[in-house]
Amino acid sequence: MSIPDALVEQVRKAGRVTVLTGAGVSAESGVPTFRDAQTGLWANFKPEDLATPRAFLKHPKLVWDWYAWRRQLVADVQPNPAHFALAEFARRIPRFTLITQNVDGLHQRAGSGEVIELHGNLQRTKCFDENLPVEKWTDTGEVPPHCPRCGGLLRPDVVWFEEAMPEAETAAAFAASRDCDMFLCIGTSALVYPAAALPIEAVKSGATLVEINPSVTPLSSEADFVLRGPAGVVLVKLRELLGWGGD
Ligand code: OAD
Repeated sequence: MSIPDALVEQVRKAGRVTVLTGAGVSAESGVPTFRDAQTGLWANFKPEDLATPRAFLKHPKLVWDWYAWRRQLVADVQPNPAHFALAEFARRIPRFTLITQNVDGLHQRAGSGEVIELHGNLQRTKCFDENLPVEKWTDTGEVPPHCPRCGGLLRPDVVWFEEAMPEAETAAAFAASRDCDMFLCIGTSALVYPAAALPIEAVKSGATLVEINPSVTPLSSEADFVLRGPAGVVLVKLRELLGWGGD
């Protein structure tokens, strides 16, 4: 995989860069993606059994335990060179917006200060009935635990299928996609909307579209540059070619 000089120069000169990441950016940390055959979470679990409000109401313990397992999995891994490279890009590029569909918090752990989390965060908890964050509760051994305010069930603060997207984050993500010179789409299958609409908005607004993914996606044919490879490898190489640090 080689990175064209023209792309390196465009990144160096870009004033406004927006990035969308998906599960693939955390794959090299050991976090499973959703749709990769065999290893993807959706190859082994059905989204409708685990990631919808109906599934939670039907089997609250199963859903809570599945997210507890994912929370522990993420706590046990480390950010990888892709996360660190993006944190460095944020320090070098005048206006840099990082949007993620990931709920693992690994961008923040790699030093990315501002991250637009479109699908929530595994580490946060909220009340199912009130839809409000809950930070502390009494552990009575019940699973899921109960809301200290209303007694309702607690759930992870992530976006499930059939649920509305967080308004402020979605609006900020669309605004940053319409207002950039370059849009990097990294490690996402570009199948889940509205996130998958963001790169298209960027292209419509005249941005250069770059895809970093080892596999073809519906977005590949729209991209000006396609870098086929794992995000960690590609971004480290791009960082080196830019001469932007590296450890
Ligand atoms: P997917 O699992 O759909 O796609 C992961 C993408 O990462 C695929 O296109 C892979 O080819 C690519 N990939 C795998 N390894 C990679 C690597 N080392 N470097 C770069 N790319 C790699 O995950 P998302 O696109 O993030 O939503 O999925 C979007 C949403 O669907 C998720 O946020 C989640 C899921 O259902 C909800 O739970 C609401």
